Amino acid sequence: MKFLVINGPNLNLLGSREPEIYSGESYQGLCRRLEAFAAAHSSTLCCVQFNSEGGIIDAIHGAQGNYDAIVMNPGAYTHYSIAILDALRSVAVPCVEVHLSNIHTREEFRHKSVTAPACVGQICGLGSFGYEAAMAYFLSKETQRHADPA
Ligand code: DQA
Repeated sequence: MKFLVINGPNLNLLGSREPEIYSGESYQGLCRRLEAFAAAHSSTLCCVQFNSEGGIIDAIHGAQGNYDAIVMNPGAYTHYSIAILDALRSVAVPCVEVHLSNIHTREEFRHKSVTAPACVGQICGLGSFGYEAAMAYFLSKETQRHADPA
């Protein structure tokens, strides 16, 4: 499969940003690990990060016809970006939303995701394992599709 992993604002600072919440793994380390996970499953992965809403929206548009699945952590945009919600609804590429932290146990303004309704599902609170869990979900769907094409 061809995966597109999109990370939103401030996630480039993983490793140094609030490590007690987001762990000490760097953004580069995360991307390398996810690329290795994809390769181990005969897949490819492109890892991109944007601090701007427009960059995320362009990446979602560009996924159409180029990727089989999106795994996205929209960062704080999760909680208020109708534009990202609309972008996800504008393409036929399925997306799973991932959050490193458990957004439901944090400040109330983080409890709501406006982008999740356009996603197949949401994984939160599992740290960076959530990205692999999302990829494993898509890989299992793909295996099922090949076993039972009808
Ligand atoms: C986050 C949770 C968001 O509330 C926050 O703004 C982030 C990271 C997470 O991965 O836990 O930037 O998406």
